[in-house]
Amino acid sequence: MQSRLVTLEEGKDTAALVRTNQSRVLPLRLLQFLLMFLGVGIAFSIFSMFIVRYFGVENVVPLIQSRVQQCFEEPNSLERWVRPPSSLLHTMNDTELFWRASFVPRMKGYPFKRIPKIAFVFLTRGPLPLAPLWERFFKGHEGLYSIYIHSLPSYDANFPPSSVFYRRQIPSQVAEWGMMSMCDAERRLLANALLDVSNEWFILLSEACIPLQNFSIVYRYISRSRYSFIGAVDEPGPYGRGRYDSNMEPEVNISDWRKGSQWFEINRKLAVDIIEDTIYYPKFAEFCRPACYVDEHYFPTMLSIRSPHLLANRTLTWVDWSRGGAHPATFGKADITEKFFKKFFEGQTCIYNNQPSSVCYLFARKFAPSALEPLLEFALKVFGF
Ligand SMILES: *[C@@H]1O[C@H](CO)[C@@H](O)[C@H](O)[C@H]1NC(C)=O
Ligand SMILES: *[C@@H]1O[C@H](CO)[C@@H](O)[C@H](O)[C@H]1NC(C)=O
Ligand SMILES: *[C@@H]1O[C@H](CO)[C@@H](O)[C@H](O)[C@H]1NC(C)=O
Ligand SMILES: *[C@@H]1O[C@H](CO)[C@@H](O)[C@H](O)[C@H]1NC(C)=O
Repeated sequence: MQSRLVTLEEGKDTAALVRTNQSRVLPLRLLQFLLMFLGVGIAFSIFSMFIVRYFGVENVVPLIQSRVQQCFEEPNSLERWVRPPSSLLHTMNDTELFWRASFVPRMKGYPFKRIPKIAFVFLTRGPLPLAPLWERFFKGHEGLYSIYIHSLPSYDANFPPSSVFYRRQIPSQVAEWGMMSMCDAERRLLANALLDVSNEWFILLSEACIPLQNFSIVYRYISRSRYSFIGAVDEPGPYGRGRYDSNMEPEVNISDWRKGSQWFEINRKLAVDIIEDTIYYPKFAEFCRPACYVDEHYFPTMLSIRSPHLLANRTLTWVDWSRGGAHPATFGKADITEKFFKKFFEGQTCIYNNQPSSVCYLFARKFAPSALEPLLEFALKVFGF
């Protein structure tokens, strides 16, 4: 007690005083300790005599063993369910992963302070040539986003530890454009991101995508929207309804058939809809093969059946189809001028939360690696980051 009363400011002089006090206190403390030890010893012998008498000797040993074991197990606290996985690597196969990712709490609200995050999930072949632009976009917004990357299994990512992309690669498999393996890769990304209970929104991007607004605007736009953004239109003609196969009935009827680009933004509820689906998946796997491009139909159609009231039916990712052909235009160094960016920001209208809005796109594609340099140059002025 006395030693605690001595404040730091009193300095060296009092230190000697404390020491002499302590040496007088010590024998008394020792005596108290020995008495306590004796007391505990007696109590323990009475207790063990009691145990031996009523339960037999053999029960005492497992009791002690289980106590010892518990000390080495991870304490079963809430923290375990709240904290994001420390590593994105795991040994689950897709069946196991999707099962685990489909766990959904039944109660409203969270018994801890949950700051909802946006999961940016990148579906890539390998490198991320526009990474420096994204690094700038994410800078200063830690805790509001998480990143997941699915690349070809053969690709060995080498981001430095300072990068936001460092160790954000998930276990992957080969994915081919226009095939079901592409949807599998997207589901794998969603499932991995669902393992972090704080991820509330999920944005699918590719290595050719860029952000068009700063992070604050993107976060506000998405978190305040009543709807999720996925293109889903009922398109007549050969490239829309023409790709439907009536073998999909009765799970999918022609009036349910939707088309949209795969670059979506969805909330947690829709992400679970996608990874838990076993009703529509087999139909699409069997009856939507090229020239039916499954990545343009499976999620839009399935979500329009399951959760139509949650969909804005439009995408947030701008793309230029004006040049015609099977692939959208790719922009390189020569295309990136200030005038070029006007088309993203001027003369656009769309519906946001049932109101007209002039902000319709938050992301754009497709950009070649050569576009990086001019993009970095214009980013602050044009995109605000
Ligand atoms: C994952 O492993 C389980 C158990 O071995 C097996 O039943 C299941 O078919 C596997 N799934 C895949 C997609 O390989
Ligand atoms: C984001 O952009 C908006 C509008 O361009 C601007 O008002 C805001 O300050 C920017 N936020 C940050 C964090 O730079
Ligand atoms: C498709 O039509 C059939 C018969 O009209 C109906 O029973 C079924 O529920 C429909 N399916 C969907 C997904 O609406
Ligand atoms: C999107 O389309 C579905 C029908 O597929 C409709 O029920 C829903 O209201 C539409 N969403 C909006 C925001 O209009």
